[in-house]
Amino acid sequence: MYHGTQFIPDRSLKAYNSFGLDVHARLFASFNSMDALLEMLEHYNELPYMPLLILGGGSNILFTRDVDGLVLKNDLKGFELIDEDKDYFYVKAMAGENWHQFVLYCIEKGYAGLENLSLIPGSVGASPMQNIGAYGVEIKDVFHSLEAWHINEKHKEIFYLKDCEFGYRESVFKEKYRNKFIITSVTYRLRKVPDFNTSYGAINEELEKMKVKELSIKDISDAVIRIRQSKLPDPSHLGNAGSFFKNPVISIGRFKTLEEKFPQIVGHPVNEHKVKIAAAWLIEQCGWKGFRKGDVGCHEKQPLVLVNYGNATGADIFKLSTDIMQSVFEKFGIHLEREVNIV
Ligand code: FAD
Ligand code: EPU
Repeated sequence: MYHGTQFIPDRSLKAYNSFGLDVHARLFASFNSMDALLEMLEHYNELPYMPLLILGGGSNILFTRDVDGLVLKNDLKGFELIDEDKDYFYVKAMAGENWHQFVLYCIEKGYAGLENLSLIPGSVGASPMQNIGAYGVEIKDVFHSLEAWHINEKHKEIFYLKDCEFGYRESVFKEKYRNKFIITSVTYRLRKVPDFNTSYGAINEELEKMKVKELSIKDISDAVIRIRQSKLPDPSHLGNAGSFFKNPVISIGRFKTLEEKFPQIVGHPVNEHKVKIAAAWLIEQCGWKGFRKGDVGCHEKQPLVLVNYGNATGADIFKLSTDIMQSVFEKFGIHLEREVNIV
């Protein structure tokens, strides 16, 4: 059936990225069914070559210029309990679903495992992209499989846990297969009996403030939401993409040397050889916390978050990130890596 593919020329992406940057896409379209997606790809293949960018909620992207290509917004919707066994529910969500709405749905149904990942902006389809994580949990801990469409080879592929090569803010989709696959759905393996994860100190403190007596996954979700709201800016009020940089992971030996010089340095062991350093601390020590120049700034409560006060450009934000990286390197000899996808 012909769905009447419509590519909109010169479309502003301001409403489609959480930095609120007013860049334009040469062509733009959204799809809400597999048929519509396949038809769009056929149509795209008939055009002179131009790059293709898949967009979810635009909450982990920095547009540094207009997109001279086709932007395809994923609007595939639906959730489904597809299977269960003694211990787990297997829940499939379409990629265009809003992540937090999906988390709330699972909490309501009693499907446990996503509660620590409450209130992360963006779509289900992007969740495997950087193995989203917060408050002691990453999606690799609850991931079962995903379905993706191979754009050039025109077929569906299923990826299981081992195929995704998940790491800290990493997966095969972020590097090796960037822009090669369109993730169309993700299936999560969620517990019937919750395994509460309150390892992140701030959660217990918040639960105490909430005077929780008998812990539930809803309580953990509420605590996480309260913590996040207290320090992370809401993109609908202040443009941002969450943490702009990753927390650097260095060897224990290097950490000990740094600790001699900077006794307050904040680091947590990742394993017996590596330590993850709080990039927020490094950036704060370099004097950037609360920095503002024109409409670009470093957030006053969480310096890992770069913000757009209104009319900053992507190039301004990128420049600030470069300046921060340079000063952190000069002071600590540590190279910060950007977490946000630069386009
Ligand atoms: P987008 O920004 O639309 O896309 C991100 C990348 O994935 C792009 O390269 C895009 O091309 C690709 N992509 C998107 N959808 C698909 C698809 N279906 N198939 C293939 N490729 C795709 N992240 C965390 O991990 N933990 C946090 O705690 C966290 N907190 C945040 C707080 C705030 C206030 C904000 C603004 C962001 C935060 N983030 C966090 C980052 C962001 O929410 C996540 O990375 C989220 O998964 C991005 O989803 P999205 O749909 O907006 O992706
Ligand atoms: N810190 C400072 N100064 C500050 C703020 C924090 O020195 O102004 C230090 C404190 O020592 C604090 C530590 O940094 O204990 C860690 O801060 P926080 O708990 O806010 O977490 P984060 O390491 O800055 C990471 C993720 C977040 C995730 C939170 C909670 C990365 C890059 N960021 O932030 O993810 O929500 O932990 O788990 O790993 C994102 O990826 O976009 C994101 C927001």
